[in-house]
Amino acid sequence: MQCISNKFVVFVYFSLFFVFILCDQEDSANITCFLLYSRLRPSKITITGGANKIKDSCPRNSTDQKWIIVKGKIKFLHENSVKAIPNLFRIELPKVGLEKIEPGTFKDLPPLKTLYLGDNNLTKIKAGTFVNLEVSFLDLSGNSISVLQPGAFQNLSSADLDLRENRLTEIQKGVFQNVSLKNLYLKKNCISRLEPGVFGSLYPKSKWGVSLQLSNNCIERLDPQVFDNENIDELILNNNSISILRSGDLNNLPNLSRLYLSRNRIKEVPEGVFNASKISTLDLTHNRISVIANEAFDGMTRIWFIRVDYNELKEWDSRWLRGIPLLRISASYNNIEVIRAGSFMDFPEGSAVELAHNQIRNISDGAFAGLEKLNSLNLSYNEISEWKIDFMKNVTIRDNVDLRGNKINCTDLGSDLEELLDKGFLFDNC
Ligand SMILES: *[C@@H]1O[C@H](CO)[C@@H](O)[C@H](O)[C@H]1NC(C)=O
Ligand SMILES: *[C@@H]1O[C@H](CO)[C@@H](O)[C@H](O)[C@H]1NC(C)=O
Ligand SMILES: *[C@@H]1O[C@H](CO)[C@@H](O)[C@H](O)[C@H]1NC(C)=O
Ligand SMILES: *[C@@H]1O[C@H](CO)[C@@H](O)[C@H](O)[C@H]1NC(C)=O
Ligand SMILES: *[C@@H]1O[C@H](CO)[C@@H](O)[C@H](O)[C@H]1NC(C)=O
Ligand SMILES: *[C@@H]1O[C@H](CO)[C@@H](O)[C@H](O)[C@H]1NC(C)=O
Ligand SMILES: *[C@@H]1O[C@H](CO)[C@@H](O)[C@H](O)[C@H]1NC(C)=O
Ligand SMILES: *[C@@H]1O[C@H](CO)[C@@H](O)[C@H](O)[C@H]1NC(C)=O
Ligand SMILES: *[C@@H]1O[C@H](CO)[C@@H](O)[C@H](O)[C@H]1NC(C)=O
Ligand SMILES: *[C@@H]1O[C@H](CO)[C@@H](O)[C@H](O)[C@H]1NC(C)=O
Ligand SMILES: *[C@@H]1O[C@H](CO)[C@@H](O)[C@H](O)[C@H]1NC(C)=O
Ligand SMILES: *[C@@H]1O[C@H](CO)[C@@H](O)[C@H](O)[C@H]1NC(C)=O
Repeated sequence: MQCISNKFVVFVYFSLFFVFILCDQEDSANITCFLLYSRLRPSKITITGGANKIKDSCPRNSTDQKWIIVKGKIKFLHENSVKAIPNLFRIELPKVGLEKIEPGTFKDLPPLKTLYLGDNNLTKIKAGTFVNLEVSFLDLSGNSISVLQPGAFQNLSSADLDLRENRLTEIQKGVFQNVSLKNLYLKKNCISRLEPGVFGSLYPKSKWGVSLQLSNNCIERLDPQVFDNENIDELILNNNSISILRSGDLNNLPNLSRLYLSRNRIKEVPEGVFNASKISTLDLTHNRISVIANEAFDGMTRIWFIRVDYNELKEWDSRWLRGIPLLRISASYNNIEVIRAGSFMDFPEGSAVELAHNQIRNISDGAFAGLEKLNSLNLSYNEISEWKIDFMKNVTIRDNVDLRGNKINCTDLGSDLEELLDKGFLFDNC
């Protein structure tokens, strides 16, 4: 095995299963020479410098080659840069300074596991670049991509398509035309414009749905023309600029199961937004929610966890939750001051309720009616001091009531302390 020009030095050290091919610095490369024999443990091939013209130096029998990692500088990839090698499962070009990939570069590739092009200097993905490609992971994260042309990923089939940490501000319809995926990562761009239908033809890689991950972008609303696909089962929109939720926003995501809207600017949860959705996990933490409409969570027949921690709720109202099969709701770190009579009346059987770190001072008579249906109630780190012990004596709960971090004087509990502890009440310093 040798390079075809004496400018190149080839050094083969089989006893360590390493092959180093040292070549000249070149801007573009025909990468075809990478050795990894399936009978041996995977080891690295390092191509230092531009790999230009080394293709003829590859051994005849290349069907056993498994893995390429390229190190050095490669600015361009074009149609003849990468040749089909039947058993290849991994190509990695991390931090090689890649600026441009011409359509056709990957057209002859067999099904691969990993195509890693992350941490490079790509700015644009042209139509047809990843067309008809079948891989498990296509990683383009950490580039400077601001343009994805429609058709860029047409017919792509990959478990993950990773476009995190690029410079996307908009995505046009057709970019993900007929793309089969499990996870689409678009986190940490500044996407604000998503063309209607842009996610419309994504379909799932496996029997699971598609997870659409759009955290840390600049999205301002949940547009049902954009979020329109029955295959999406997870939508992650943490840390965007969504300020309004409207009834109908989720109408075109009939199979959505997990919705994350943490760190947005939502002030109100109106009625009907989640009606008839199949959402099981809803995260609304770190918003500015001060109002939740009476029947805001109406019709959520599959819900089991709602989080509204770190908001500005002053009131707590169990009508929100009437008729839903909820198992757990968490509203810690809000400004709730009062627990009114009947506050837990409408709770579903077996629920866990967390109201820690609020300013609850007042617990009205009758507040705990229905508590026996709950598994647990967490009232820790509130301002509870006046302790209506007679009322509490009648209360039972399946698991525990956490009252730690309040201003309860244990002495006041007197001989009832024992019984309360037995029932699962938790105090500190008692
Ligand atoms: C890559 O190989 C093709 C032929 O297979 C050749 O035409 C082309 O010039 C080569 N590219 C470079 C940059 O050497
Ligand atoms: C070429 O590859 C095939 C398939 O892996 C293998 O059976 C054969 O022994 C190889 N031939 C040589 C000369 O290495
Ligand atoms: C290429 O990207 C790296 C890291 O993303 C960056 O440090 C470098 O300056 C970029 N080079 C050019 C020519 O843009
Ligand atoms: C996508 O796949 C279909 C069916 O295999 C094929 O007809 C079509 O030409 C492909 N699209 C592109 C752009 O190659
Ligand atoms: C979509 O892409 C797949 C390959 O991933 C192909 O088999 C199928 O025919 C394509 N469908 C259309 C309508 O292009
Ligand atoms: C949210 O996004 C901003 C930039 O838009 C970033 O500075 C901040 O660190 C992000 N916060 C989290 C918790 O990711
Ligand atoms: C999505 O929901 C539709 C009905 O709205 C159903 O026919 C389809 O099977 C569901 N798809 C998945 C992947 O759950
Ligand atoms: C939820 O949907 C059902 C059925 O469409 C409807 O009867 C009910 O009034 C809706 N509730 C809210 C709060 O929109
Ligand atoms: C507690 O509730 C009582 C009666 O409901 C009310 O008079 C009182 O002002 C409340 N105290 C606080 C601190 O909210
Ligand atoms: C109650 O909430 C506090 C604060 O979030 C937490 O530290 C504590 O573990 C919770 N109690 C129980 C019993 O889970
Ligand atoms: C105790 O609970 C029972 C049943 O819920 C109720 O009938 C009774 O009035 C309660 N007693 C007190 C003192 O609250
Ligand atoms: C608790 O209450 C008792 C009497 O009810 C009182 O003597 C004691 O000083 C109180 N302790 C604190 C820490 O307030």
